[in-house]
Amino acid sequence: MRQKIIAGNWKMNKTPGESVGLAQAIKAACAKVPKAKVVVCPPFTALAAVSGVVRGSAVALGAQNMHWEKSGAYTGEVSAAMLLDLGCSYVILGHSERRTYFGETDEIVNRKVKTALAAGLIPIVCVGETLAQRKESQTEFVVSAQIVHGVAGLGADLGRIVVAYEPVWAIGTGLTATPAQAQAVHALIRGKLTELGGAALAQTIAIQYGGSMKPDNAPELLSQTDIDGGLIGGAALDAVSFMGIVNAV
Ligand code: PGA
Repeated sequence: MRQKIIAGNWKMNKTPGESVGLAQAIKAACAKVPKAKVVVCPPFTALAAVSGVVRGSAVALGAQNMHWEKSGAYTGEVSAAMLLDLGCSYVILGHSERRTYFGETDEIVNRKVKTALAAGLIPIVCVGETLAQRKESQTEFVVSAQIVHGVAGLGADLGRIVVAYEPVWAIGTGLTATPAQAQAVHALIRGKLTELGGAALAQTIAIQYGGSMKPDNAPELLSQTDIDGGLIGGAALDAVSFMGIVNAV
């Protein structure tokens, strides 16, 4: 059985001081070992501080992005080795905000995924269609392409990734895909992963849902066959609402 994984994507929120407070509250609430794998992804500037809080606890640390090269002249960028050194075990890659505002393509995402895996990080690979694409019945086409190109060429390492399905129209909008809508796309994603790596391997890969997941809609979403957790934005900025989702598992 796949373990559900609930990850908080704090985006560009929280100073190091604020991050420590939130991480401490989540860590304390996770002392009674939760059923889900719990991951927090603060901004880069708070990773070191949060790492000090969660080290040795049930809470894992993730980053929100990284560069595809190991090192070099890439002003403003952060490498996989730097994240590992800070205690990260996860990294979110290809989030729709990275794709929309920073021009990330499936090719860039693929390079980053390979670099992350080579370094020993678990990539959380984000895919999802826009509202216009959904209205034009392009969801299947768009998400399939993002999977096929984003995680191409991984071989057996395909089994080490986490996928997050985040319909762009549901991110930060309060709109959520219905459990049935989400399940349909999750099943499609598992089908593509099966084509890439075989059924046995595809069955082990966690596919998270993201997009306005909250404590009240989490139970039904998380009860779908192919929904293996959540990537949480807004509701992850508050320990009570984040733990409400963790405890829904
Ligand atoms: P949201 O963000 O929960 O605020 O919709 C999810 C995400 O972008 O990862």
